[in-house]
Amino acid sequence: MRACYSTWSGTYYDEYYGQKAPYPPVHRELLKRVLAEAGARTVLDAGCGPASFLRDLAETGTDRYGFDVTPEMVAEARLVLQAQGVPEDHVWEGSVLSPESFRPPGKGRDFRFDAAICVGVFPHIPPEADLKVIRHLRDAVKTGGLVVIEARNQLFSLFTLNRISYEFFMKDLVQVEALRAQAGEEADGVERALDQIRRHFRLDLPPVRKGKEGEPGYDEVLSRSHNPLVLREQFAAAGLTDVTLLFYHYHCLPPMVEAHIPELFRKQSLTMEDPEDWRGYFMASAFLLAGTRA
Ligand SMILES: C[S@@+](CC[C@H](N)C(=O)[O-])C[C@H]1O[C@@H](n2cnc3c(N)ncnc32)[C@H](O)[C@@H]1O
Repeated sequence: MRACYSTWSGTYYDEYYGQKAPYPPVHRELLKRVLAEAGARTVLDAGCGPASFLRDLAETGTDRYGFDVTPEMVAEARLVLQAQGVPEDHVWEGSVLSPESFRPPGKGRDFRFDAAICVGVFPHIPPEADLKVIRHLRDAVKTGGLVVIEARNQLFSLFTLNRISYEFFMKDLVQVEALRAQAGEEADGVERALDQIRRHFRLDLPPVRKGKEGEPGYDEVLSRSHNPLVLREQFAAAGLTDVTLLFYHYHCLPPMVEAHIPELFRKQSLTMEDPEDWRGYFMASAFLLAGTRA
C-alpha cells in the first residue's frame, strides 16, 4: 500500500483535483457543503494523502488536522499545509486501523473533532476492518459530530457489463456452489447456464492499472468497492444517526463506450450529478456516506 502511494505524493493533487483530472473532483464541493451544513470548525482527515482535500478548505477558516499511513504523503501534506499556516503537528503518520492514530500528538484523551472524514481509504482496508474504522471515526468526533466516508460503489458494477460485473454476479449475487451442489441430473445444464451468463460480459475490461516506477499500481494492491446498502447498515450498527448516502461521479453510459463520444460522455455525465438521484446506486462510481454521532 505504502509502495503504491509513495511516489504519488507530489503529483496526486494535480492528477485527481487539478486541470489534468480525467473527471472534475465533484466530491470536493459536496464534501465542503456537508461540512459547512454541519457547522464543522475542527476537521480530521483520516488518510489525508497530500492534504488533497484539506488544502482546499483553507478559505473556510476550519482548524485542519490529518494523518496518513504513507510517510511521503505526510511530508507533502505538511509542506502544503504549513504554507497555509497550519502547524506542522496537525499532520502525522498513522493508520485508520489503529485507534491511537485518531488523536493528534500532544492532545489529551478527551480531545474530539467536530467532523472526521475519510476519503479514498476504504478501498484499501480489508473487509473485516470496515466496521472497526467506522467506530474509530465515530469515536474521534464529539457528540453531535459528523462522520463522512467515501467509497467506490460496488453496485455500479451492474452498469459496467465487464469483468467487475461478472465477478459481482458470481461472488455476490448468484450462489454458484449451492446451485452446483443441488443440480443433480441438471449438472450439465448449470454449467451451460453459467457459461451463457459469462458470455454477456466483457471479461477483458477494464484494463488493470499498473504502477509508475516498478511499484504496484492501484489495481495491484487491495482496492475494494463497497455496497452502499451494507455500509449504511454498518453506520447504523456503529450508532451513527441521520445517515445519508450521496452519490457522485455519474456515467451516462457504461465506461467501455466512452471512447466513441468522449466530449458528450463527460458533458452528459456531469449534468447527471445529483447526489440524491436513485440512479446513483447504479450509474455513479462513488459515494459519500455521512452520519452523526448520537
Ligand atoms: C486515494 S488516496 C486519497 C487521499 C486523500 N484522502 C484524497 O481524498 O485525496 C488514499 C490514501 O490513503 C492512504 N491510506 C491507505 N491505507 C491507509 C490506512 N490504513 N491508514 C491511513 N491512510 C491510509 C494512502 O497512503 C493514500 O494517501
